[in-house]
Amino acid sequence: MKKLIAGNWKMNGLEAGAVSLIGEIGSKIGAEPEILERCDFLVCPPALHIHVVKHKIDHDHIPVAIGGQDCASTENGAFTGNVSAEMLKDAGCAYVILGHSERRSLHNESSAYINEKAARAHMQGLTAVICVGEQEDERESGNAYDVVAKQLWESVPKVSNAATTVIAYEPVWAIGTGKSATPDDVKAMHAFIREKLQENLAESANMRILYGGSVKPDNAADLFKVDNVDGALIGGASLKADQFLGIAQAV
Ligand code: 13P
Repeated sequence: MKKLIAGNWKMNGLEAGAVSLIGEIGSKIGAEPEILERCDFLVCPPALHIHVVKHKIDHDHIPVAIGGQDCASTENGAFTGNVSAEMLKDAGCAYVILGHSERRSLHNESSAYINEKAARAHMQGLTAVICVGEQEDERESGNAYDVVAKQLWESVPKVSNAATTVIAYEPVWAIGTGKSATPDDVKAMHAFIREKLQENLAESANMRILYGGSVKPDNAADLFKVDNVDGALIGGASLKADQFLGIAQAV
């Protein structure tokens, strides 16, 4: 299976910067097209920049998929400030990140709510990238596995399969801290997630499990060697084309 190299741009940059970033990513992939034999690429810009980034992707034939960073749990209607799965689809998205820890904590999103969003994404034919991961105190108190199991059980619709869903394991203490989980920790957690997916879902075969949390070009090779690491969800390093591609080169 090809690794999915996914960039979560979060709430960074302005329109011109977003266009030049995808342009640079496109040039770098164009300079070494054989990388596409090992990697699929995805970028998730801020919602307001999806159109211009998608336009650049189409215009320059850049082999990168585009996704949203969140979607509403409802269909279109009177929901001020929300962006629907249907709108993301209409804008050319193939993916949407759901349940990122920044939304779980800063927006109080529950796993049940994320499950509803995932169902909406699935209805529109979007692949949901559903994030799970424990907080630092939960790991220190030995509860990381229980927390992740509960998040998986409650957030991932039971009809999910490899075409509709990607899981991203992002330990919260590793996000934006420069403190990545060790390959041994990642190995154990990804094996556990694989097992839980098999238990919970009828069709979990080949579902990708990404690791996210301070992935950089210099730790990516060790992470990608780990069993059940099918790609990376990258925050900070996805904002620099050379680092984003440096991570892909580590595959
Ligand atoms: P960093 O790569 O900046 O740690 O962010 C990870 C992340 O949250 C991706 O969704």
